Amino acid sequence: MARVLVTRSLPEGGLEVLTRAGHEIVQVAEPLSHAELVAVAPTFDAIVCLLFDPLDAEVLEAGVAGRLRVVGTVAVGHDNIDVAAAHRLGVAVCNTPGVLDDSTADLAFLLVLAAARRASEAEADLRDDHWEGGRFDTYYGVDVHGAVLGVVGLGRIGQAVARRAAGFGMEVIHHTRRDTGITGWTPALDDLLARSDIVTLHVPLTDETRLLIDARRLALMKPTAVLVNTARGLVVDEEALAIALEEGRLFAAGIDVYQREPEVHPRLRAAPHTTLLPHIGSATWATRLRMTELACEGVVAVLAGRRPPNLVTP
Ligand code: DGY
Repeated sequence: MARVLVTRSLPEGGLEVLTRAGHEIVQVAEPLSHAELVAVAPTFDAIVCLLFDPLDAEVLEAGVAGRLRVVGTVAVGHDNIDVAAAHRLGVAVCNTPGVLDDSTADLAFLLVLAAARRASEAEADLRDDHWEGGRFDTYYGVDVHGAVLGVVGLGRIGQAVARRAAGFGMEVIHHTRRDTGITGWTPALDDLLARSDIVTLHVPLTDETRLLIDARRLALMKPTAVLVNTARGLVVDEEALAIALEEGRLFAAGIDVYQREPEVHPRLRAAPHTTLLPHIGSATWATRLRMTELACEGVVAVLAGRRPPNLVTP
């Protein structure tokens, strides 16, 4: 029987994967600080964590000095974990690919529509009794149907967004570093930004994608364009985005992820034409349950000496 640390509140049913395999779950009531993770990591065989838990080299080194063998993160993105250090130290890392694509794509499309049509602003006015009846010239937005959608990163989620766009009669172009062989591949990101009416980001956070959408690239976008980010906050320079919106050099933004969650850059919070959501891309009952199960299945497999399909470490 292994001891598994579960760092956050997770769907109960998902954790049954661990108990069915005979493992002991230790679930903490409050999130652990970095220092607390360093202190407890050696006493566990496995950690089931979320993207908010910083599992850096220090935590992993402390863990392997004890009994730590595997980390299962209940997320597809694993930028909170030093995967290179985990590999060096022989700690397996598992994530949750493939089970949140459609839920996240649904939410990306919600942001496309809400930002393009200024839904948040219009609803806030209605709720605050600022709806001026009888006017025809308010809340003008941009059309989604027939627009050019630029998808940055054509992994599973990017493809799922592209499929939705087809139903809206959009022309879809995409940028990836390598040629996908699919119609619409745009080798230069700058060209995609300049051509798109709506840009949606679906890249993981890596050294190459950190602040990928910076002030220079924002300036390439049309003043009528919309930017949607459901990937990672650090892919976009939030301050530069806020300034572009304030100055009317970009029409709107739909954002689900932030540089320093749960903080939201005050300037972005105040910027016009934004729909800002609190990182809920995968937040449906079914998807969060399946994510939890998948991360736990990976942990159970590694503890049993098997190689799980959702292994991130080589
Ligand atoms: C992920 O899986 O990386 C999401 O951001 C978490 O919902």
